[in-house]
Amino acid sequence: MTCPRSVRNVLPDFATKPTIDGDLVRLVPLETRHLDELWPAYEDAELARLTGSTGTFTRDETERIIAGRRHAPDRLDLAVIERATGRCVGEVVLNEWDEHNRSCNFRTLFVASGRDRGFGTEAIRLILEHAFNTLALHRISLGVFAFNARARRVYEKLGFVEEGVLRETLNWDGEWHDEIIMSILEDEWRSGRELPIDA
Ligand SMILES: CC(C)(COP(=O)(O)OP(=O)(O)OC[C@H]1O[C@@H](n2cnc3c(N)ncnc32)[C@H](O)[C@@H]1OP(=O)(O)O)[C@@H](O)C(=O)NCCC(=O)NCCS
Repeated sequence: MTCPRSVRNVLPDFATKPTIDGDLVRLVPLETRHLDELWPAYEDAELARLTGSTGTFTRDETERIIAGRRHAPDRLDLAVIERATGRCVGEVVLNEWDEHNRSCNFRTLFVASGRDRGFGTEAIRLILEHAFNTLALHRISLGVFAFNARARRVYEKLGFVEEGVLRETLNWDGEWHDEIIMSILEDEWRSGRELPIDA
């Protein structure tokens, strides 16, 4: 689908990091203080399997990386705060911005105690709203391992569409796993956003 020239010419303002309120969660700029709650998740073996992470950054290195992204002009890293308690339960990230094609990659993770409580669904819906309405993105894509049924369910219910399979991209404990590529386009998001969140 083509888009109006005025929209094509809008340059996304990634450097302005928003605070976005939902019913259950609030998205705020990710800062090093959020590591107090996120760090145990980064070190969690199950989370490493679900995200395919083999990262070996120390906490100091991770703090430096997060600090460097606080004003990044080409990506958006938001912490997810549980509104009822004020604790940080996860992060949602738009990265790999392609200026010409107005696209980004998406990734997310939640701490174990923040999963299966509706936070992920709401947080992703909020960042998609920002991505399409404020940043004027056209396409957001992601990769999810085939075995990650929960994440696939959440992405599907928010309108992401499966595009294909990257076969055996992950070797975990000697077993190969496929990665599903999913994406959502701006007009799909606009046509689906009136649906109830549990559709
Ligand atoms: C994936 C993730 C972001 C989802 O967020 P969440 O807050 O846990 O998800 P929600 O509670 O909003 O929704 C979970 C949905 O998955 C469903 N679900 C849970 N476990 C499931 C399973 N094993 N199979 C299928 N569906 C499942 C729930 O029923 C719910 O769907 P529903 O609302 O239709 O009932 C979060 O669980 C997470 O960070 N997981 C670990 C890291 C990860 O997998 N990141 C994504 C990598 S691509």
